[in-house]
Amino acid sequence: MRVARCADVLAQIHGADPRKARLAGMLHDLARLYPAKRLIDECELRGMPIDAFERENPIVLHARLGASLAQESFAVHDPAVLSAIEKHTVAAAVMSPLDCVVYLADGLEPGRKFAEREALWRLACTDLHAAMRATLAHSLGYLEREGISAAPQTLAAAKTFGLAEGVSTSLN
Ligand SMILES: [Fe+2]
Repeated sequence: MRVARCADVLAQIHGADPRKARLAGMLHDLARLYPAKRLIDECELRGMPIDAFERENPIVLHARLGASLAQESFAVHDPAVLSAIEKHTVAAAVMSPLDCVVYLADGLEPGRKFAEREALWRLACTDLHAAMRATLAHSLGYLEREGISAAPQTLAAAKTFGLAEGVSTSLN
């Protein structure tokens, strides 16, 4: 619900469709509680390709599987909504404003507890592109500190939004 509300707010500010943003926000985590084996099994059952990063980090599959479940269980077939659900966790090289709105809402909703959240949320309310860059930088910085590798899609998104290799967590 928090993600849906935040996505709605950001969509209104940035000219994306608030109804689609709310819908993606409501449904983005449909597969989030599935254990790793079930995520892989359900993706394989549907003939979805699973890349090497996803095999090692099955949790990220909840985003793409969630989009399938939204179609199957809630008859959501709007490609814009499904794309936003698919990209909400690791982002992607190509992201629509709606994709960005849902990605940022998921990462910056008030239930997330990290020091930079408020500043990033304020940035998201004024500049979508800058907020994507700063939020991706923050995520990559976190992953690096924790010794967790980033998904190739996240690195591609970082490039799209103007982050060089060896990113900092600056909010510039
Ligand atoms: Fe998620």
